[in-house]
Amino acid sequence: MALAARRVERLTHLAARIGQAGGEALPIEADVTEEAQAAGMVQRVVRESGRLDMLLCVAGVGVAAPFQNTTTAEYRQMVDVNILGLLYPIHAALPVMKQQGDGHIVIVSSGTGRYIHPSTVYSGTKHAASAIAESLRREIGKDFIRVTSIEPGAVKTEFTAHMRADVRTAVEQRLGDMEQLTSGDVAGAILYAVTQPRHVNVNILTLYPTQQA
Ligand SMILES: NC(=O)c1ccc[n+]([C@@H]2O[C@H](COP(=O)([O-])OP(=O)(O)OC[C@H]3O[C@@H](n4cnc5c(N)ncnc54)[C@H](OP(=O)(O)O)[C@@H]3O)[C@@H](O)[C@H]2O)c1
Repeated sequence: MALAARRVERLTHLAARIGQAGGEALPIEADVTEEAQAAGMVQRVVRESGRLDMLLCVAGVGVAAPFQNTTTAEYRQMVDVNILGLLYPIHAALPVMKQQGDGHIVIVSSGTGRYIHPSTVYSGTKHAASAIAESLRREIGKDFIRVTSIEPGAVKTEFTAHMRADVRTAVEQRLGDMEQLTSGDVAGAILYAVTQPRHVNVNILTLYPTQQA
């Protein structure tokens, strides 16, 4: 297994925890908005393990605000990470999976990629992610490459910590004391999708906190 993101020290720490639990993980420093780094990440995995069973596209940023309270710099960052940061790794992974004759691409989109929440640009990028997943599935399923879109509601992570203070406060007020999903809940959905037999493609999994409208 390989873990990729920009903050390599966190990946190294996580890889050590996986190692202590009996697994094995290769930390790779990569910014998925940089085409060469996204390609390098995929090539390194193939070089070190000889295969690419699955590409899990998780990287994402969101300023969960109305259009008029989002800056053009924030639009760019969301488009870069949530769309290009998805396309570049997939572009690098597909030829490898085609040559293998199998593979699974899992895209972490969002509930706001299917329903509308008050986050215009973020929602737009996640609608793109969900559309890319479904369109790609139809294109490459014949090659036995599966594509799954995971579409969660609110998950308790560091996601809001990257938002502007006023937006973060508004989001936290909206969520109130609602019991949010955990990253483990989302991991469980991914595990379900990727452990189905080869002829079963789980297209979309939407999971929300029970109390979220
Ligand atoms: N939290 C929610 O309520 C929620 C709901 C629905 C969907 N989602 C989606 O779930 C996914 C994961 O988000 P999260 O909630 O876990 O947020 P998070 O805690 O902020 O994690 C975001 C992850 O993306 C990585 N990342 C960001 N920019 C990157 C880049 N340019 N290149 C490589 N890695 C990058 C970050 O690592 P580095 O900073 O080290 O690069 C981090 O590991 C996102 O796609 C998000 O849109 C979240």
